[in-house]
Amino acid sequence: MDAFKGLPEARVISDPSDLAPFLQDESHLRGILPLAVVKPHGPAALRELVRRAKAEGFGLVPRGAGTGKAGGCLPTERTVVVDFSEWPGEIQVSPQDLCLRAPASAPLRDVKAAAEARGLFYPPDPNSWESCALGGTLATNAGGPNACKYGMTRHWVLAVDALLEDGELHTFGISSVKANAGPSLGQLLIGSEGLFGFITGATLRLTPLPREYTTLLLPVKRWEDLLELPGRLCGAGYLPSAFEFFDPAVLAELRAHGPEEARRLPGEALAILEFDDRGSTSDAFLEGLLDLLGPVADQLEVASDARQRQGIWAVRRMTSVFLKERHPRKVSEDIVVPRSRLREFFAGVGRLDIPAVTYGHLGDGNLHVNLLAAGETDPALLDRQLMDLFSLAISLGGTLSGEHGIGLAKRDAFLALSDPGHIRTLRALKQALDPQGIFNPGKMV
Ligand code: MLT
Ligand code: ZN
Repeated sequence: MDAFKGLPEARVISDPSDLAPFLQDESHLRGILPLAVVKPHGPAALRELVRRAKAEGFGLVPRGAGTGKAGGCLPTERTVVVDFSEWPGEIQVSPQDLCLRAPASAPLRDVKAAAEARGLFYPPDPNSWESCALGGTLATNAGGPNACKYGMTRHWVLAVDALLEDGELHTFGISSVKANAGPSLGQLLIGSEGLFGFITGATLRLTPLPREYTTLLLPVKRWEDLLELPGRLCGAGYLPSAFEFFDPAVLAELRAHGPEEARRLPGEALAILEFDDRGSTSDAFLEGLLDLLGPVADQLEVASDARQRQGIWAVRRMTSVFLKERHPRKVSEDIVVPRSRLREFFAGVGRLDIPAVTYGHLGDGNLHVNLLAAGETDPALLDRQLMDLFSLAISLGGTLSGEHGIGLAKRDAFLALSDPGHIRTLRALKQALDPQGIFNPGKMV
């Protein structure tokens, strides 16, 4: 397309046969063929793209590594994909300021490794941490198992660099946790899925690297016994750095069809607990924990070395891919309910007859409810099952997405089920910050 001739500081892909990879992410959705994919190499490309988008009336869709789960980076009608994978910049760690600067293109894996090499820790750990790009994790406010103790991506961002609709890059925030000169516009951009502008880099907060881990496999005979444990642990002052679980159906799938390590998993249902506090490998800590857990922990297994710990995590980390391979058209949700309402949630799923299997982040109530037969289910029925699921989570004080975001996948439900005031405010912000609607059109609101 002529609109991209002579675009400075950029690589342009416009041959339709090269565009296919950009129609997908890790959701069950597909995008529309974009006008082109542009890989910007500097601010001049972004400035010019914004100018042409406004002048010629096309939209700009941001893309990181394409590992999102909600279709947020998929091209919609008459859009150009702005792929940040070649955006320049280096990771720079500042131990004095306990922070790190990195471009949006930095692989999250390299960000975490750079911090670790200086004895520091960047906690966000989405399941895709080995393949996703930092920019995508900021745009979607990614979470993962460690969110249970450390919170989400947004809790670890001090400053963001972002392209706004004036075509320029702006920095919001400083290299300190103390920054209180007005509301945080950087935080508004995190998790906004490119609705208000595109994040090109960030300054991230770091903390000292944990030095010890206690990793526990907790099989239970009655799976409902797991459901009150997150609340009980927190109530007693134990905050795991991760508390993951598999319900009986997911566990049975893993045991029957999973890799070797998964075939030996014990229990009717199973939890993985990890603690990384100083002292958490001591006998006293474990004894206290066992006392608290009581009879439910009579089959508890402790990972005795780093290799065993890695083995346990490898099974948990591959669960999503494994289920997707077995059920390619499944739909995986990520609702949240408060820890104290987990029992009511699962009772509700049974009552509503939602044919789901569940695993995920029990410790913070973020549950990956999977509808394995979604591809073979009548679409109207599937819609109803999903709406029932989201409504149930919301009625218990939860939400329809804990970490994957809204994108295209949950847009209809988000608009239908959110407080109208919330949607009105988002639309007013969108109108103020992107009056011509060039940034990620057709997403979220
Ligand atoms: C996970 O925690 O495994 C992912 O966030 C879930 C998914 O892939 O649906
Ligand atoms: Zn997850």
